[in-house]
Amino acid sequence: MADILNRFEEIGIEETKVDTNKKIKVGIIGTGWIAEAHYYEYKKMEDVELVALADIVPGKAEAFAKRMGIENCKFYSSHKELIDAGEVEAVSVCTYNRQHAEPTIYALNHGVNVLLEKPFAVTLDECIEVMKAEKKSGKVLSIGFQPRMGENMKMIKKIVDSGELGKIYYLQSGGGRRHGIPTPYGTSFIADETGGIGAMGDIGCYSLDMLLNAVGYPKPLTVSGYTSDFFGKNPEYYTWDNKPAQYADKFGVDDFAAGFVRLEGGIILDFRISWAMNMDTPGDALILGTKGGLRIPSTDCWNGDFDKPLTIYKDVAGKRVQYEIPLVKNGEPLFYKKIRSFLDACKNGTAAPIPSSQIIYNQAIIDGIVKSNKINREIEIKIPEI
Ligand SMILES: NC(=O)c1ccc[n+]([C@@H]2O[C@H](COP(=O)([O-])OP(=O)(O)OC[C@H]3O[C@@H](n4cnc5c(N)ncnc54)[C@H](O)[C@@H]3O)[C@@H](O)[C@H]2O)c1
Repeated sequence: MADILNRFEEIGIEETKVDTNKKIKVGIIGTGWIAEAHYYEYKKMEDVELVALADIVPGKAEAFAKRMGIENCKFYSSHKELIDAGEVEAVSVCTYNRQHAEPTIYALNHGVNVLLEKPFAVTLDECIEVMKAEKKSGKVLSIGFQPRMGENMKMIKKIVDSGELGKIYYLQSGGGRRHGIPTPYGTSFIADETGGIGAMGDIGCYSLDMLLNAVGYPKPLTVSGYTSDFFGKNPEYYTWDNKPAQYADKFGVDDFAAGFVRLEGGIILDFRISWAMNMDTPGDALILGTKGGLRIPSTDCWNGDFDKPLTIYKDVAGKRVQYEIPLVKNGEPLFYKKIRSFLDACKNGTAAPIPSSQIIYNQAIIDGIVKSNKINREIEIKIPEI
């Protein structure tokens, strides 16, 4: 035990303290794939009672409960029914992207706190409506970017905040899949009517979050964007589990996207993401500053970690040097931390751990890429006051 505590101290992880006197009743809206991860973490928390599950597919919430061994829970056939029952103080919204905004607005309008899965929504307009409801409600809305809770991911921000890199002027996103259109669980990620956005909404929003969070989420000003769907729409394309693609005719989103974004504060963001391409990786993520540069190895940053250390490059006393930041282990699972920090904010009336006021900029970039691609030129990003 002493060893474990020592290691925790060494890497600065605080042990979570939970006030079990104050129980909180929660529900899950959308009982698909990611709802399982939410349930596993709620189950560990002594101050949580999972009292309600909703899914619009008849029998799906009941089957979920059976599969997970959940007892004493009520079932509903829509988010509205679940919220109207008036039992829950907080919900996890685990619906597909096109159904992020509506249930979230409904919950907030009825005084229920929301942990919303990423991406924020599909369009910027939807996010603005959600934020209006959030403001009116005074409730907690946190968005599901658990990789931020990773110790190595946090280190990126710590390095930038330390001033070691000087003034930051350029960000390049890294990582992306060669063969990885996610269809093992059906079409909800790839059909326009459910996913709405593809690689950008699935993994691109994470690589944006990693970089934007590190530099304090500056407001995006303009974007020149590109999206394509050469692989998803191709019946010859083979999915990541090497089965012939069955879904080419259902594919209605981006499988590759790129954007050149001007951010407030004179920072340029060069973004690219891929579900499918004829390349191993689009490269490492880079943060360039006037005093130093940071290389973040090409990574599945959506898993909250890297397998190689971060490297800093700088000139010291006229010599070019580079050094690595040792990797550290994470403490509790990142999903646990994401849910715990949301519940603590609900219980203590404190600010959302991953606030909409930041993630609106993430979504504005994605929305801008979609719009710019449609008209083939750079556009100005306009976000109204909320
Ligand atoms: N944080 C992560 O690591 C992570 C990982 C995977 C997916 N996600 C996100 O989670 C979301 C869901 O992904 P998934 O793979 O679980 O999708 P899924 O299609 O497996 O599940 C979504 C479920 O929501 C239900 N649903 C839709 N609208 C509803 C409504 N109004 N009321 C009740 N139920 C409704 C659907 O019937 C479906 O069962 C996506 O937005 C995705 O981006 C996050």
